[in-house]
Amino acid sequence: MAIVGGSEEATVVVRNKQVILREYVPASGFPKESDMCVTTIGTIKLMLPDQVGSDGVLVKNLYLSCDPSQRSRMTKTPQQRPIRGYGVAEILVCGHPNFEKGDLVWGITGWEEYSVLTKPAADTLTKIQHTDVPLSYYTGILGMPGMTAYIGFYEICSPKKGQYVFISAASGAVGQLVGQSAKLQGCYVDLLKNKFGFDDGFNYKEEPDLNAALKRSVAVHFFPNCNVGGKMLDAVLLNMRIGDRIAMCGMISRYNLGQAEGVHNLIYLVAKRVRMEGFLVPDYYHLYLKFLELVLPYINEGKIVDVEDKAQGLESGPAALVELFTGRNVGKQVVVVALE
Ligand SMILES: NC(=O)c1ccc[n+]([C@@H]2O[C@H](COP(=O)([O-])OP(=O)(O)OC[C@H]3O[C@@H](n4cnc5c(N)ncnc54)[C@H](OP(=O)(O)O)[C@@H]3O)[C@@H](O)[C@H]2O)c1
Repeated sequence: MAIVGGSEEATVVVRNKQVILREYVPASGFPKESDMCVTTIGTIKLMLPDQVGSDGVLVKNLYLSCDPSQRSRMTKTPQQRPIRGYGVAEILVCGHPNFEKGDLVWGITGWEEYSVLTKPAADTLTKIQHTDVPLSYYTGILGMPGMTAYIGFYEICSPKKGQYVFISAASGAVGQLVGQSAKLQGCYVDLLKNKFGFDDGFNYKEEPDLNAALKRSVAVHFFPNCNVGGKMLDAVLLNMRIGDRIAMCGMISRYNLGQAEGVHNLIYLVAKRVRMEGFLVPDYYHLYLKFLELVLPYINEGKIVDVEDKAQGLESGPAALVELFTGRNVGKQVVVVALE
């Protein structure tokens, strides 16, 4: 740390470690740790630069979230700049009318120790009102992935007690929460018996025939929350029943493919009168308080847990991010940048 200037206008200057995107990642192929580098040579003045105007904030990043959506940004983000993603941060200097110095927030930030966030990113930050839960939960169960699970399950699929729910990528950030919500609703949940107490499951990496795997696990599946796409979606379509619903959440199986896999069984949507609906969670952020009212009591009563996979330090960020695409994580993959 260094102090610049006289006593009246003294500005603190600190090191600002950053994860920089070294190379664009081509649309086809898995991202590699070596596409990113961690630099420790940069510094930052703990003040808002003049050009930021009155709407910016300077934050200290505490937790960063590893999300599949960062993959497409690695193809487009300008090189030699810190990568961006969801995180939890403390506001150190505030020029934004919605916040104050000392507020804890979650939203889009930079993969670095300190970030200056300007419009429109600063407008999307959400003030954290409940601090009696671990702050890292705002990268997962109480942040964007939790809202995604809530919208797919309650707003789009809304299955009833006793119905069967199939979830793909069920051990990840979104999937684990959809499954636990389904269990609380009294549904039968296909996947991950041991870890999350679901009813049945299989590992798609060890199954030569996904259709057969679906048929031998819990009967037929009523309301898939579809996170994967590709072959898994094709197998699920074969196993739908009349009037079923699919919340199309994402297609992680194609994020590293230049040429997308085809889906061949869409005709079953017609025969089985299935409603399949895609959604993007930011369109539903106006429901965030309703979501908190539902999920906070469940967390406090221990009825829903957020299984986290915590990587310590920004240095571990690149490995944690690329391993999301090989499925090394169990639960929400978080990078711890600083202690609260
Ligand atoms: N619509 C929205 O607004 C929205 C918001 C958030 C997330 N999403 C989508 O939801 C999905 C899950 O996101 P998340 O945050 O919960 O990530 P995550 O599950 O925490 O991590 C990704 C998981 O996907 C599985 N996976 C990776 N590559 C795969 C492949 N080729 N085929 C099948 N499974 C694969 C891995 O688990 P295993 O290999 O161990 O099964 C990995 O753990 C993604 O498609 C994401 O884009 C959508």
